Amino acid sequence: MTSAAKKTNPIRLAISSLAVGLVLSTALPATAEQAQPVSPELTPKLRDLLRKEMLSVEDASHQIMSYLIAGDDDEVEKLAQKIHDSFILQQSMTPEDKQDLMAAVPEDFVTQDRAFHALSAELAEAARNGDRSAQHQKFGEMIQACSACHSQYATDRFPLLAQ
Ligand code: HEC
Repeated sequence: MTSAAKKTNPIRLAISSLAVGLVLSTALPATAEQAQPVSPELTPKLRDLLRKEMLSVEDASHQIMSYLIAGDDDEVEKLAQKIHDSFILQQSMTPEDKQDLMAAVPEDFVTQDRAFHALSAELAEAARNGDRSAQHQKFGEMIQACSACHSQYATDRFPLLAQ
């Protein structure tokens, strides 16, 4: 009994590690696939919308930094709110554009975009409350969200992030 059990153990081990290997090898390409640049998958209209949004978000972020170091809560609030409202998924896209977008990007991209825009709302809120240390923290988190998304979904545009 005992010796038979001992004999089957290594086989079971081999089978289960084979199973783990199979799971990993099928899981890995899926993960890699999710982290592909999204831009080539977009329709020209959506790509144009995304780039415009990115440029305006970057411009607003530069300005926010200048207002943060000057303690201008009102301007920080306005700009953070502007970033929040530029949410690509809330822009006036036709139902067809929305369908195209959802079909083109992984769900995680949408999740990250939502989280990013939620952060901009929190920054606006901190500015409205005149809470400077919260403004600095939220701004820092926002910049992290930019590069986190770029390092997964925009390495074609920012190749240094892929290294
Ligand atoms: C949810 C994902 C996501 C977040 C968050 C995000 N970006 Fe981007 N960004 C992209 C993608 C994808 C591209 C590539 C677009 C392309 O090349 O067509 C891009 C491109 C850009 C570009 C280049 C635009 C151009 O015309 O070439 C700039 C600038 C930029 N982002 C700034 C920012 C800033 C600043 C933030 C944060 C305050 C930010 N992005 C947050 C996904 C994101």
